[in-house]
Amino acid sequence: VGRWIMELVGFPVEGSLCLLLSGGSAANLNALTAACHHAAERDGWNLRAEGLQSGRQRLVLYASEESHSSVQKCVEQLGIGTNNLREIQADAGFRMRPDALRQAIERDLKAGHLPFAIVACGGATNTGAIDPLDEIADIAAEFGIWLHVDGAFGAWAALDPSYAGEFKALARADSVTLNPHKWLQVPLDCGALLTQHPELHRAAFSLTPDYLVSGHSEAPWPCEYMFQLTYGNRALKVWAAIARLGRKGVAELVTRCNGLAKLLEARVRAMPDFEMLAPASLSVVNFRYRPAGRSLDGAAIDALNVRISNAVSESGESHLPTTRVHGKTSLRACFLHYENDESDVEHLVRLVSRLGSSLADQLESA
Ligand SMILES: Cc1ncc(COP(=O)(O)O)c(C=O)c1O
Repeated sequence: VGRWIMELVGFPVEGSLCLLLSGGSAANLNALTAACHHAAERDGWNLRAEGLQSGRQRLVLYASEESHSSVQKCVEQLGIGTNNLREIQADAGFRMRPDALRQAIERDLKAGHLPFAIVACGGATNTGAIDPLDEIADIAAEFGIWLHVDGAFGAWAALDPSYAGEFKALARADSVTLNPHKWLQVPLDCGALLTQHPELHRAAFSLTPDYLVSGHSEAPWPCEYMFQLTYGNRALKVWAAIARLGRKGVAELVTRCNGLAKLLEARVRAMPDFEMLAPASLSVVNFRYRPAGRSLDGAAIDALNVRISNAVSESGESHLPTTRVHGKTSLRACFLHYENDESDVEHLVRLVSRLGSSLADQLESA
């Protein structure tokens, strides 16, 4: 199953390992643990023995300001501290700026710090933006820094011809997170961690007490590469999903969902009472209801869109959560379901329009 996943998204298979963990957060934590232990080892010290309290150089992590909140949780959990997380500025398309990344690394090296990993978004949660992976891989290679791509949601889109080029550099990543429990829709929970350096994960995690030595099979034990010891079978459900869909089926699913996002974007742009807040990327569309000719200020429009989101949920017809984009409340649509089709886009536009109009009446009269 691990090999199938790697082949599907173009991750090098030879010598690599796929771990099936509880989700994207666990996969990010696993990768960043291995990365910081490796950086310490290259610097001549043993993080497992010394911990972070022996006055060594500061370990520093780089991630886009658009990266998922689990990245911040990782630096907190690892004891790195958020003061040592560099949130790199994104461009107008919400993609990490390579020039800003380079400057931050150079500044830290000058200050005597120890950069240990770069986390690039392979589909940012908020906007679906894909960081310029190839350019970031060049910088990672130049400075000898571990490159982790968080593609928990988006990396399956490597199978969509419209996005395949942007995901080609997954092959250059040291590790990649991608979740079978998102686009592949296997029952919770399952997040895959792909790594080109199984031996470095083993160096960070392996601990075999006497009571576990006997009965050790030839195949590597997952617990040697992760924090968890007892380990459930997550492979079977992933096997079932991929065996049923095949490469063609997974490609069709992600391509269709991404196409629906483009269709929704076109429909939103054509509606006078709707406004796009970010370009559609992958299957994510951020938009809001902003009725023309009404006396609603910015705060009222934010409040209106929160009400619309709640009303959509209460209708039971769709799930349209809010987020913030450029400081504005946004309705965030994300197509992932295997049954989504064009009729869902039309339905959603009509639903938001109808609910938006009546909620705007209420808000205005209040
Ligand atoms: C890009 C990204 N990374 C990490 C995560 C965390 O994944 P999980 O909820 O499986 O821990 C998510 C989940 O929303 C995500 O979108």
